[in-house]
Amino acid sequence: MRKIEIFDTTLRDGEQTAGVNLNTAEKIEIAKRLERLGVDVMEAGFPAASKGDLDAVKKVASIVKNSTVTALARSNRSDIDYAWEALKDSSEPRLHVFIATSPIHMTYKLKKTPDQVVEAAVGAVKYAKEKFPVVQWSAEDACRSDLVFLSRIVEKVIDAGATVINIPDTVGFTNPEEYGKIFRYLLNTVPNIEKAILSAHCHDDLGMAVANSLSAIENGANQIECTINGIGERAGNASLEEIAVALAIREDFYKVKTNLTLNEISRTSQLVSRLTGIAVPPNKAVVGKNAFAHESGIHQDGVLKEKSTYEIITPELVGVPSNQLVLGKHSGRHAFKDYLHKLGFHPEESKVNVLFEDFKQLADRKKEMTEEDIFALLIDHKIQPEVPLYQLKDIQVNYGTNQIPTATLRLLTPDGTLIQDAATGSGSVEAIYNTLGKMLPSSLKLNDYRIQSVGAGRDALAQVFVQIVCDGHEINGSGTAQDVLEASAKAYVHAFNKLQMHSSDKKSYERMSI
Ligand code: KIV
Ligand code: ZN
Repeated sequence: MRKIEIFDTTLRDGEQTAGVNLNTAEKIEIAKRLERLGVDVMEAGFPAASKGDLDAVKKVASIVKNSTVTALARSNRSDIDYAWEALKDSSEPRLHVFIATSPIHMTYKLKKTPDQVVEAAVGAVKYAKEKFPVVQWSAEDACRSDLVFLSRIVEKVIDAGATVINIPDTVGFTNPEEYGKIFRYLLNTVPNIEKAILSAHCHDDLGMAVANSLSAIENGANQIECTINGIGERAGNASLEEIAVALAIREDFYKVKTNLTLNEISRTSQLVSRLTGIAVPPNKAVVGKNAFAHESGIHQDGVLKEKSTYEIITPELVGVPSNQLVLGKHSGRHAFKDYLHKLGFHPEESKVNVLFEDFKQLADRKKEMTEEDIFALLIDHKIQPEVPLYQLKDIQVNYGTNQIPTATLRLLTPDGTLIQDAATGSGSVEAIYNTLGKMLPSSLKLNDYRIQSVGAGRDALAQVFVQIVCDGHEINGSGTAQDVLEASAKAYVHAFNKLQMHSSDKKSYERMSI
């Protein structure tokens, strides 16, 4: 089967997202994850842009062994020299050099005639070839360029030594049919085109970046440039995970393969989101929190009977442990009962009916049902879980600018005993977690901590999400309270209780959030 090279530019075009600034350590962490994901090429930065970028590209290139590391340069010797400085020690130094080819860019930005642009492009590729074994050339704003001119300049840069020709839709202007035609046109008109591979690079201004990239594949592109979570300039780049999964799920149609290890996708997406601070929208295809969440009763019933009824991608394919049935007013009894079982509760049938009635009434009033709502319902009906839970009774935190933060907490243990302890920390949250670490009977590592407000205004609720790790199990927990510190404690205790239930019957509770 034809192989599509995946060129990831999260660390270069992705880092150009407004407000994103990754330091070298963060770039290395992402680069290692991209290597595990199996990208063929990763663009680590633009070394001429800053000393920090140069150092980061150099470090990434020295660490990554199983993917080719490349860097961007404009068509001038100084940029190419910086890129060489950054990449010269990598296993296969590869340069990505570009120049704009559209009339708008040539006239207003470069202030060059088309002939001068050809001369600059050819000069840059020739100079780069003296150093780099592989040179990729990009026609910036290719989709608004004159096709006859594009064909001419592509022929010249291939003659000069470029072996990858990238056709960026720099401003996200094109559509699938038009973009496909550009690839077919180049394949039919550039006489030496068989000496190079064609690459697509799409931006998402009109929401068509992924569709355009797939069209490029259908029309002869053998390399796709994309980013994790589709981050990038303005509306972003084509998202790697959507392209990868579309190619896998519709292999019958596209008839191509990639080197990607698809079950690394979810982890990579979460890491990029955490380090860039760009949240993944819940409804985002493949990696959004709702991508595998079924809410309507009809859908939930169908999925519980046979997943393929409403699920074309299995969560496991992209590294998500299991599908989520989101409980809400549309949920049916079947899904509700299944959810109770997953939480560790097995009430008898008559009790399930009563609980379901109450649940439906509550779901009608509440926009979003949380796991805590279900717990509250069960407690109201005096239903005990099979594994008893810890409960936060109260919390007191002392903080002052010249004081060591100290937390004192009281917990109700599963056998009903009230226990109390205190600890210090470098901040209030750490003091709370150090205290809980002393009180709860397993050693846990905190992997992630996030906070958001629920509602608007000064009296908004605080919602804290944590991820704890114990014996290799990653468990998420959440807690909501008026106060940030109480929400932090609740989230930790919540995750711990889920861990208890997880270890008791080895079911996967990690994704159990409603
Ligand atoms: O969008 C674009 O044109 C680019 C080039 C530099 C390849 O990112
Ligand atoms: Zn771009």
